Amino acid sequence: MNKSRKLWIIIGMIVFVLSGVAATYPPKDEHKNLKILSKNISYENLDKVMDNFKDALGVKCNFCHVKQKEDESKWDFASDEKPEKEIARKMMKMMMRINKKYFKHKVSYNPGEVLTVSCQTCHNGKPRPEPQAPKK
Ligand code: HEC
Ligand code: HEC
Repeated sequence: MNKSRKLWIIIGMIVFVLSGVAATYPPKDEHKNLKILSKNISYENLDKVMDNFKDALGVKCNFCHVKQKEDESKWDFASDEKPEKEIARKMMKMMMRINKKYFKHKVSYNPGEVLTVSCQTCHNGKPRPEPQAPKK
């Protein structure tokens, strides 16, 4: 075998191994159905956002999310089946606009960010804030 052929075989082997490594790494945007949050949001950060929704409304994940049809023991977080999830998206947009327009505060959904107006401000642990007549 001549030298250059040997070299090509070695290069070929390196490329083969590297492509194998690349294939085993998870793709960057694993979240399938994000329309408001950044597609590259980390799992940790997404968890914090969702935990915050849960606490602010006093509900569990199943208030907005459904289980998989084939396997009830697993979640289908990407599904938009529950209308509450779409309402939550509208609420996120509304909350971002209130903060930006009236309080000059851009909502970035970064961990530890203190929001001027948050889900908590209105919901205060309840899924549906009661309409209230002004006190006399
Ligand atoms: C008040 C409604 C609400 C609650 C409660 C809630 N979520 Fe979500 N969740 C959403 C919305 C809305 C989105 C999509 C956000 C977007 O479009 O950017 C989402 C997206 C997600 C995603 C990304 C799915 C994908 O692939 O696109 C995961 C994972 C997730 N939620 C997990 C959870 C977990 C775990 C809990 C419970 C701790 C939870 N959620 C509670 C509303 C909710
Ligand atoms: C400015 C006040 C305000 C803010 C901020 C707010 N909400 Fe709401 N939200 C409401 C009110 C009021 C209702 C009830 C509307 C109705 O009954 O028609 C509601 C209803 C909802 C519902 C529907 C509940 C149901 O049972 O039908 C969801 C889901 C929801 N909000 C999620 C959120 C999330 C998530 C956030 C933060 C991203 C948020 N909201 C921020 C005022 C607010």
